[in-house]
Amino acid sequence: MTTDHSQRTRVLTGITTTGTPHLGNYVGAIRPTVQASRNPATQGFYFLADYHALIKCDDPARIQRSTLEIAASWIAAGLDPDGVMFYRQSDIPEIPELTWFLTCVTGKGLLNRAHAYKASVDKNNLAGNDPDADVTAGLFMYPVLMGADILMFKAHKVPVGRDQIQHIEMARDMASSFNHLYGEHLVLPEAVIEESVALLPGLDGRKMSKSYDNTIPLFASSAQLKKLISGIVTDSRAPGEAKDTEGSALFQIYQAFASAEETASLAKAYADGIGWGDAKQILFERIDREVAPMRAKYEELINNPATVDAILLKGAAKARELATPFIKELRHAVGLRALASAASSQGHAKTARAASPSFKQYREQDGQFYFKLVDPQGRVLLQSLGFGSPKDAGIAIAQLQQDDAKALAALGAQVTLGEGVSAAQVAEALGTLRAELAEKAKTKA
Ligand code: TRP
Repeated sequence: MTTDHSQRTRVLTGITTTGTPHLGNYVGAIRPTVQASRNPATQGFYFLADYHALIKCDDPARIQRSTLEIAASWIAAGLDPDGVMFYRQSDIPEIPELTWFLTCVTGKGLLNRAHAYKASVDKNNLAGNDPDADVTAGLFMYPVLMGADILMFKAHKVPVGRDQIQHIEMARDMASSFNHLYGEHLVLPEAVIEESVALLPGLDGRKMSKSYDNTIPLFASSAQLKKLISGIVTDSRAPGEAKDTEGSALFQIYQAFASAEETASLAKAYADGIGWGDAKQILFERIDREVAPMRAKYEELINNPATVDAILLKGAAKARELATPFIKELRHAVGLRALASAASSQGHAKTARAASPSFKQYREQDGQFYFKLVDPQGRVLLQSLGFGSPKDAGIAIAQLQQDDAKALAALGAQVTLGEGVSAAQVAEALGTLRAELAEKAKTKA
């Protein structure tokens, strides 16, 4: 029943269109992603998350400009729009439609626990304001829109920063809930955290970030680049004095662009007392060498926005070849379908099952296997610690289903009750599951 979206591993990620790409974005996201996009075993989906941008930014000109700059940057940096899916989120009307379907199966309590929303509430509470002061429903719904981005294209892997892991977890929860109610339509995605990617310091030595106003735009002109680099913080050691590479923002930025030999040679120059002016010149030349060829392409695109529009529209058309039939399948599944079409009994059976708790198994970044028991609203009733193998986790689940009291005792600290959940509630949920399994066994026999 599921639409085939090709056999390759589908890797998907979104870029929020609120800013101008800087060297930190390049080193941390653009460069590794462009590299990864060339892997023939994967199919890449890279999109401009402009609906997400509206949650953070109410300046229309900035949204438009940022969309152009980000699209041009990715193409200039080597992303091949014909080899991957490269599109603008707002060109895919199926995404907001799926957002609604997911909204209807997502517990409000799940969204209450989203880090970004919770942070706003905490801030308000601290300031003695109404907990939801200045919180838009858009911010609250952010994880659902993101879930739709991911689930729309049946992504397997979602490369994201650490701060986004919870969103991927939530997308999995939404997919499970939907599948539980309506059948196996959605694919459960996995977060991919790139550990080896460098975190680039900015001009002042803190992490390069728009919010610290310490960035170097990726496509600053050569002259601007030179000027900005001359402003990187250093200590006050004079030429001839040995310098520390440790804690040197200049050195760390250099390292993100240079080969191992080049880096070793700069380290030696530091030890030999290179002057800061000379070190900055070396850094400038190294970055400019990598960026200059891309800069030409970038400028050509920025000056021809219609070309970028055409590329993105072509990408959207390709993406919609997957999205349009899939949303049709989902509309049918939820009951938005021709009145004359045969009413499937599936809906009914699933509705009855909707009230059941369920076990969810997953793997964390630490490589361990975990499970949790959740109620139909997505509340965690029981949470396990990590198991060495999926089999061990599976055995523990089977034991819990067979005899919860004995299994709970035997598992000891390996499982903990969810926040505010009593052992009786867990026993009741497991009882429901047990009855269901027995029922299923009967119908099979
Ligand atoms: N929330 C992501 C961020 O801020 C951007 C994003 C939107 C995204 N939709 C996505 C990332 C889907 C991965 C998958 O970085």
